[in-house]
Amino acid sequence: MTDRDADKRLAAAAAVDEVCDNMLVGLGTGSTAAHAIAALSERRLAIETVATSEASAALATRLGLKVRPFDSVARVDLVIDGADAIDARLRAVKGAGGAMVREKVVAAAADRMIVIADGSKRVTRLGATPLPVEILPFARGYASLRLAQMFVHCVERPDYVTDNGNIVIDGHGWDDAAPHSLANALMAIPGVVGHGLFLSEIDAAYIAEDGIVTRLERGRNPR
Ligand code: 5RP
Repeated sequence: MTDRDADKRLAAAAAVDEVCDNMLVGLGTGSTAAHAIAALSERRLAIETVATSEASAALATRLGLKVRPFDSVARVDLVIDGADAIDARLRAVKGAGGAMVREKVVAAAADRMIVIADGSKRVTRLGATPLPVEILPFARGYASLRLAQMFVHCVERPDYVTDNGNIVIDGHGWDDAAPHSLANALMAIPGVVGHGLFLSEIDAAYIAEDGIVTRLERGRNPR
């Protein structure tokens, strides 16, 4: 296990300590979230889960966790998920793994969202991280043109389809001075299903660096 992977595992273990019996827990997507799924299965709690991707659902089921279909769920106690970049205000870019739309739905349903990450994900500026945008295949041409006006350059993921059957375009080089405006502008493009900007969803983060885990809580961290 690399140092970075060991840090991901430590952050995951710290977050999983917050889980109690009888909770309905949201499972994130990605390599860090996979550590959380493994740690949860090892705790053998009386919990149920919902997953933010088919991959996480398959992993959780294989490890013996009970996974409920999310379409019949309105509320989740806690979701534990990774991020591609997170700043001190707990604003994040997510979606390198392509699950950002389901991740955002589950985050919205959750009483508490915890991000887990190794120290490389901690940033002072979000705009240096490519921003994934999920688009209906029908709208590919039109949405691509609109996105090209908002980013320095855009790259459609080749041979890639999300769990929702959509394409993803990664927007590189974006102005992070007004991220809420960017988020609103993206969602105003017909055919855009969602994007990886998480500006208000995250309540806490466990970030591990060189074996030390730091917990950040919304509203309690130095800016
Ligand atoms: C998937 C995500 C992941 O949480 C994010 O990409 C981090 O992944 P990893 O833990 O593998 O670095 O947003 O859509």
